[in-house]
Amino acid sequence: MRTLLVYASRYGSTRLIGEWIIERLGFVAEIKDVKKAPAPSAYELVIIGSGVYSEGVLPEINAYIDKYLDVLEEKQVVLYAVCMDVEGVYLKGKIWGGWAYLLPVIKKFKNPPLHAGLLHGEINPAKLSQDDYQRLLSFYNKVLRRQVDKVPYKTMLNKQEAWTFAEKILWRLKKR
Ligand SMILES: Cc1cc2nc3c(=O)[nH]c(=O)nc-3n(C[C@H](O)[C@H](O)[C@H](O)COP(=O)(O)O)c2cc1C
Repeated sequence: MRTLLVYASRYGSTRLIGEWIIERLGFVAEIKDVKKAPAPSAYELVIIGSGVYSEGVLPEINAYIDKYLDVLEEKQVVLYAVCMDVEGVYLKGKIWGGWAYLLPVIKKFKNPPLHAGLLHGEINPAKLSQDDYQRLLSFYNKVLRRQVDKVPYKTMLNKQEAWTFAEKILWRLKKR
């Protein structure tokens, strides 16, 4: 199946997860940074992934989808977002985190995507830009009220989770 995986990633986890998904799918695929990604016209399956920053996917992934929405509506589309809070929480009448990150992207489509999901990422302070480091530090202290002076390393990257996600894609493709 002609497959394109387009990702937006600041620190590599969305790309790595994309590689794991493709490995499990077993299709020959092109894996492209959204900044250099081709139009999706020549592909049957288009998988689109983004890291989550400040409660949403990266703007360049929204821009790609908006640009090619008409073409994408005719493809098998899979969406995934990579973040720390895959579960989300209900607070004061609103859902924060989890599906709230991906739902605005799903809602762009008239034809519902074949599959979509949230996958666990990582925070590696050694990789972060100074701005992102400071943003996180202030989030931990002001929002989570943790009183930390360093951003801790935390990885929840999980190859099995990515493979299970890919297996669901295979299953849904077989059913269509
Ligand atoms: C500045 C900053 C903001 C972030 N905001 C969120 C967020 O709102 N929700 C969340 O669950 N994870 C958040 N994360 C965690 C990222 O989603 C996680 O690091 C992910 O693995 C990034 O993917 P990437 O390496 O492909 O860019 C944030 C990380 C940074 C550095």
